[in-house]
Amino acid sequence: MPSERIRIQGGVPLKGEVHICGGKNAALAVLPAALLTDDVCVIDNLPSIDDIPIMADLLRAAGAKVSLRNRVMTIDASGVDHFETPKDLAGRVRGSTYFMGAFLGRVGHGRVAIPGGCQIGARKLDFHFKGFGALGATVTEEGDFIGLSSNGGLIGNEIYLDFPSVGATINLMLASVKAKGNTIIANAAKEPHIVELASMLNGMGAHLRGAGTDTIRVRGVEKLHGCSYSIIPDQIETGTLMIAAAATRGDVIIHGAIPVHLEALSAKLLEMGVHVYEQDDMIRVACDGPYRACHVTTQPYPGFPTDLQQPLSAMLACAMGTSTINETIFEDRQRHIAELCKMGAVANVENKALATIQGVDHLTGTTVFATDLRAGAAMVIAGLMAQGETLIGNVHYIDRGYESLETKLRSLGARISRITVDE
Ligand code: EPU
Repeated sequence: MPSERIRIQGGVPLKGEVHICGGKNAALAVLPAALLTDDVCVIDNLPSIDDIPIMADLLRAAGAKVSLRNRVMTIDASGVDHFETPKDLAGRVRGSTYFMGAFLGRVGHGRVAIPGGCQIGARKLDFHFKGFGALGATVTEEGDFIGLSSNGGLIGNEIYLDFPSVGATINLMLASVKAKGNTIIANAAKEPHIVELASMLNGMGAHLRGAGTDTIRVRGVEKLHGCSYSIIPDQIETGTLMIAAAATRGDVIIHGAIPVHLEALSAKLLEMGVHVYEQDDMIRVACDGPYRACHVTTQPYPGFPTDLQQPLSAMLACAMGTSTINETIFEDRQRHIAELCKMGAVANVENKALATIQGVDHLTGTTVFATDLRAGAAMVIAGLMAQGETLIGNVHYIDRGYESLETKLRSLGARISRITVDE
């Protein structure tokens, strides 16, 4: 059967200038919010990635009129009458989770298929369910579906999240904006796309305060109106390109970024001896020689993001000294380390969480596979660093979350292309 591979001839330092696209995870969070109004919502600067048309189809399946052209999605949810996400679509994206909050927020009931997304751990939904319960909803697990009901709408309440879950925070914001009375979400996630969703909802007439801190206060409103909204630059695409620039000992100027979103990564790169300069919406990353090993523990924002530990691990494979990466957010996000070892990295993983990476002089190209989206980015960076040719399989993971990654890297001098092979 024919399948695609990314082919890289490594060893070229990346040089030049590149622009960042709209954020994947921000887009996934804000699109379902359009279901909370009968007016039209126009959302622009969407990334051209595989997840976005699937979100459009999920909105259409609910009965919304949706057009998606040139990064702009226009959503008219006035005719929405089907509060269920189909299994074949919902299972392909993590963003389908947010239809729970959007359906509850709109009509107080719904039925959603188990969401998809990368297989990086259990990805439980118990905090979402506990929060919905506090707002007066009943949640029933029905095979591959989750049933949601309430007695005529949700009622505000105080909710404490046992962990600042990004998904649960987003769902509870969507569910509570039109609930009766006040809701407090304590120990909320603080990721940039939480702030984005609050900002879009407030632009629609909602009353949310405190997004970006660990306490979000929502005063329920009866009605929301339409809005125009522009997606913020992708934090993880920015970080991935910063690491790629440093790991190839290149010099890259990244435009259209939000430097403050990348502080944890910039701090690590500086610690490793990489040059990082920031100005307004520009970040320049340059590395002119060997770089030091470092120790990373993933944490909720503003700590070091789990989504960037895999790309960074490729760079650490050739650092001076021994590095560690302690993955604390997802239980199974170190599977890419075995792939890096195929390229000559010297690394091991304890308890599926703690990767110890002994820096080596160089990596050697071979055939490797993306085990998930950010693991795919790690393989691309490893391929750019390696001597010889690297072939990367499972490229569909990369297409889910990175827009035109190969084109952008080629514009920076990388020898990267896509080929079809017979498996
Ligand atoms: N968790 C629970 N119960 C819950 C919710 C979460 O135990 O009810 C656990 C999860 O199993 C996990 C941890 O809490 O171990 C964090 O999960 P969280 O809910 O914060 O993550 P998510 O919403 O599933 C989003 C991003 C991920 C990103 C994480 C952490 C989207 C669509 N996904 O996932 O992005 O890694 O937050 O920042 O926004 C990616 O882009 O590659 C990606 C995986």
